Amino acid sequence: MCGIVGYTGHQPAKDIIIDGLKKLEYRGYDSAGIALLEEDKIVVRKKKGKIANLEKSIAGEKFYATTGIGHTRWATHGAPTDANAHPHINEDGSIAVVHNGIIENYMELKEKLENEYNIHFRSETDTEVIAQLLGVLYKEKHNLQDSVYAASKMMKGAYTFAAVCDQEQDRIVAFRKDTPLIAGLGDGCNFLASDVTPLLKYLDQIYLIDNGEMVVCTPNQIEIFDEDYKPVQREPLHVNWSVEDAQKGGYQHFMLKEINEQPKAVSETLGRRLDEEGHVHLDGISLTKEDLARIHKIDIVACGTAYHAGLIGKYLIEKFTGIPVEVDIASEYRYRDPLVDEHTLFIAVSQSGETLDTLMSLREAKAKGARVLSIVNVVGSSVARESDDVFYTWAGPEIAVASTKAYTTQLICLYLLALYIGRLNEHITEEYAQNILGELKLLPKKIQKILDHSSKIENMAKLLYNRPQVFYIGRGMDSAVAYEGSLKLKEISYINSFAIAAGELKHGTIALIEPETTVIAIATQDFLYPKMYSNIEEIKARHAHIISLVKEGHEEISQISTDVIEIPDCRDEVSPVLAIVPLQLFAYYMARERGENIDKPRNLAKSVTVE
Ligand code: M6R
Repeated sequence: MCGIVGYTGHQPAKDIIIDGLKKLEYRGYDSAGIALLEEDKIVVRKKKGKIANLEKSIAGEKFYATTGIGHTRWATHGAPTDANAHPHINEDGSIAVVHNGIIENYMELKEKLENEYNIHFRSETDTEVIAQLLGVLYKEKHNLQDSVYAASKMMKGAYTFAAVCDQEQDRIVAFRKDTPLIAGLGDGCNFLASDVTPLLKYLDQIYLIDNGEMVVCTPNQIEIFDEDYKPVQREPLHVNWSVEDAQKGGYQHFMLKEINEQPKAVSETLGRRLDEEGHVHLDGISLTKEDLARIHKIDIVACGTAYHAGLIGKYLIEKFTGIPVEVDIASEYRYRDPLVDEHTLFIAVSQSGETLDTLMSLREAKAKGARVLSIVNVVGSSVARESDDVFYTWAGPEIAVASTKAYTTQLICLYLLALYIGRLNEHITEEYAQNILGELKLLPKKIQKILDHSSKIENMAKLLYNRPQVFYIGRGMDSAVAYEGSLKLKEISYINSFAIAAGELKHGTIALIEPETTVIAIATQDFLYPKMYSNIEEIKARHAHIISLVKEGHEEISQISTDVIEIPDCRDEVSPVLAIVPLQLFAYYMARERGENIDKPRNLAKSVTVE
C-alpha cells in the first residue's frame, strides 16, 4: 500500500513525480503529496483525495525544483486528511519524508522525541516520526545518509521511505524495509519508486533494492549500501515491459482491458513453458525426481484472488500428483504454527509478490525448512527474490485493483506445475498429460469466444445492477470459482455477496434465499452435474432468480434456470479458467451500471503491504 516516487535530474521534477504517482495510484488513493527542493528550501504540497485533487490545488503555482519526492497514500495511522497526507516534515521543515509501511514502535519513538527533544507533532501518522527523528539525528551528523542509516536502526516494522533535506540539493536518500523499492537508472537523472510502472517512460534499467538496504540517488549516481553500511555492487536489471502495457489502450477501464487481455496472457504463460514436442518445461524451477521424493505434502498459501487460485491448485495437484495439498490464507497460516518441515513444498501465489502476509508466511515456512516455490507476476518482487524457485505468470502489468488476468495466469501456472510433478512422480500417464495440455492450448480461443459474446452479460447487468445481493454456488472446483466470482462482484460494485459450496447451502445459508434473491449457480463439472441440478431445484423452490453458468448444450439445468450463461465445451479439469471470465465481466458491467470507480474501488489498494 502507498506509492513512493523520487526524481533527481535536470528536468522540472513536479510533473515527472505527479505523472509517476498516477501510475502508482492503484497502491492507495486517499491522499497525495509532493516535496520539492526549491533553491534553499523544501516546498511541500499535499491534499486529501486522489492525485487529481493535488494537481488542481497547485495548478497556478510555478516550481523550478529538479529534485523531489512524492507519495500516494492508503491510510493506516490517521484518517485520510490533508494533515496526515505525506510528505511529512521535521519541526523546522528542513527534511521531508514519504513512507510505505507501518512503524511498529512509533509510539515509543514519538514519546521519546516529545519528552527528550520537545518536538511537537502535527499529524496522527507514524511517518511523521521518521521526519522528526531524522531532524534530530541530522543536527548531530550533518549528513542525510548517515541520519537515515542511524534512523533505520532505531525503527521496527515495515518502513520503506525516501527523504530529502534542504541542505543537500539534488540528493534523495531512501531505505527499504519489507515494502518494495526500486531505483531507476536514467540518462542524467535517476529515480526511486515503489514499482517499475512510473519509470517505463524514461528508462529500462533498474536496481532491485533488497531489504535492509539504503539507496542514495543524485542525478549522476545511484549508490546502494547494505545493512552494515558497506557499498553494494549490483548489476542493473533490464525491464522489458512497454509503456503501452501500462496504459488503457482505448478501454474505458484497466479492468476491462485486462479481462480482454486474457487470451494473450494465457497463451504467453503457456507458450513459454511448452517445448517443440509439447512437453512442459518449467523455467525458473529446478525440481528433480530426487527433490520430489522428499516432498510429503504441499502447502499453498496466498491472499484474496491468489488464494482462490490456490483452491483450484489443490484439486489439480492432488489429482495429477497424488500429493496431499493444504491451502491456507496467508494471514491465518503465519500465526497458526503450521506443521512444516523439510518434507514440505511451500507454494506462495501472489500477483504483486509484495503482499506482506504472503511474504511473512513464506519466511515462516522457509525457517522451518520447507522448499519454497512461488508463482508471481512482478519480476524481482520480494516473494520472488526470497523463493528457491520462481514460476512467473508473465501476465504483464495488472493495474486494476480487481485481479483478472493475473488470476487466470496463476491457474495456468498451477496446471503446468501439477502436470510436471504428476509426470515426474508418474502419478499420471503421458497420454493423460498430453490430453490436458491439448485442452489448455485451446483455452485462449475459447476465452476469446466468451469475450466476443460479452454483450449478453452486459445486458444482463443492465437489468440486475440494482439487486441488493447476489449469491454464488458451485461444487468441486466450481466452488472455488464461486468464491472468486463473488469477490470480484463485491469489491468493485459493493453489492452484498457471498459464495458457498452448493451442497453446504442447506446446512443454514439457504435461510437467506427469498423470492427474487439472485443466485449464480456454476455447474461446469460434468460428474457433479446431477448434484448441482438438485441444489438448483432447492433454490428454485424458494423462487430465487437463478443464473446458471454451464457448458454449451447442457440443457437440463438451463431449463430450470431464469437465465443462462454458457462457456465453450471443455474437459472438467480446465473449466475453471473459462468459467471465471463471464463472472469477471458480470462484476465489471454491474459496477459500471452503478457508476462505481472500477479500477480503484473504495478502501482497497492493489498491493497490500500491511498486516
Ligand atoms: O498481489 P497479491 O496477488 O498477493 O494480492 C493478493 C490479494 O490482495 C489480491 O488478490 C486481491 O484479493 C485482489 N484485489 C482481488 O481482486
